[in-house]
Amino acid sequence: MKKNILITGGAGFIGSHVVRLFVKKYPEYMIVNLDKLTYAGNLANLKDIEDQPNYRFVKADIVDADAIFKIFEEWKFDGVIHLAAESHVDRSIANPMEFVMTNVIGTVNLLNAARNTWKDNMEGKLFYHISTDEVYGSLSNEGYFVEDTSYDPHSPYSASKASSDHFVRAFNDTFGIPALVSNCSNNYGSYQFPEKLIPLFINNIRNNKSLPVYGKGENVRDWLWVEDHARAIDVIFHQGKAGETYNIGGHNEWTNIDLIKLMCKILDKKLGREVGTSEQLISYVKDRAGHDVRYAIDSSKLQRELGWNPSLQFEEGLEKTIDWYLDNETWMYNITSGDYQTYYEAQYTKR
Ligand code: NAD
Ligand code: TYD
Repeated sequence: MKKNILITGGAGFIGSHVVRLFVKKYPEYMIVNLDKLTYAGNLANLKDIEDQPNYRFVKADIVDADAIFKIFEEWKFDGVIHLAAESHVDRSIANPMEFVMTNVIGTVNLLNAARNTWKDNMEGKLFYHISTDEVYGSLSNEGYFVEDTSYDPHSPYSASKASSDHFVRAFNDTFGIPALVSNCSNNYGSYQFPEKLIPLFINNIRNNKSLPVYGKGENVRDWLWVEDHARAIDVIFHQGKAGETYNIGGHNEWTNIDLIKLMCKILDKKLGREVGTSEQLISYVKDRAGHDVRYAIDSSKLQRELGWNPSLQFEEGLEKTIDWYLDNETWMYNITSGDYQTYYEAQYTKR
């Protein structure tokens, strides 16, 4: 069926994988990628599909309500997959207001525009909000986040995402907007901006730069391959029930230090270094403020109800990911050669 689908944040890490999957898999859909192109948005992430007839790019800021209303007027979207966000915890500690603006106000602007466009007929429409497991807070050694775990965000990032999740559910309950939310664990894979742990450390290891481990490196994250997240988004968009929440995760928990040592070992082999060389770059630095101890997702509802499962074993995915960054040096060079240096110094020189 012909549909106009809006994907926000499609020039970012996860968004670019979702855009690519939808453009290739659904030639009957018109996929409109709306993105402000912040430091994290990069059209080079979509080079391979930018000329497809069912793809359009629109540069816009979701905080700009008038611009968003006009874009909805023009395209009369049937569905929205909302990924645009400020997404890095450390930046949210440095500048919380940016996160309130984009993640909270931007989301409400999109909800208002969808409500206005769909007011006479909600049939077949869907507002799908992409969120994070970080809204649930921090776990100790035991237990998992399930869909009805109470929200307990600790960082300005997770607080802003929690707020946006609440607004999406409120628009569903109050105005009948068909909407749903999924909350996913940490993603890894190609095209991730090198401020996040995995691409940052791959890049630093390759360049023989120090590896800044926050605290003791004992915090635990549950890592999911980004293409498995994109597949889950596809399944939920097409088969999920409005009003529902779906947790997405890989059942793949790693302490940061174990993961970092594994990356060092793989890269020593690939770079022809003696095993043990890159581990010497590890430097324990001041812990992140409000650092959540452990995230772990129970995704059994999604597996049971919609039949989704992660496709890739972590060791295989990590190796593929490392190969991708080693093979795409120009991509990395282009995004780390400008403002990135200023960010890096501000973030790491005082630790
Ligand atoms: P990202 O930072 O790589 O990309 C965000 C994109 O949003 C960029 O292209 C950026 O230009 C765009 N953007 C930012 N502000 C905007 C604005 N005001 N208007 C329009 N566009 C704007 O983020 P990501 O890691 O791809 O995350 C995408 C979504 O998935 C986010 O909502 C995030 O909270 C969620 N999420 C991320 C992870 C993860 O591990 N990265 C895990 C779970 C959920
Ligand atoms: P990150 O990739 O920023 O994701 P999130 O904080 O959203 O989970 O960080 C993953 C883990 O790695 C987190 O526990 C913080 C830690 N970390 C470091 O130890 N050093 C770093 O330089 C970065 C960016 C993260």
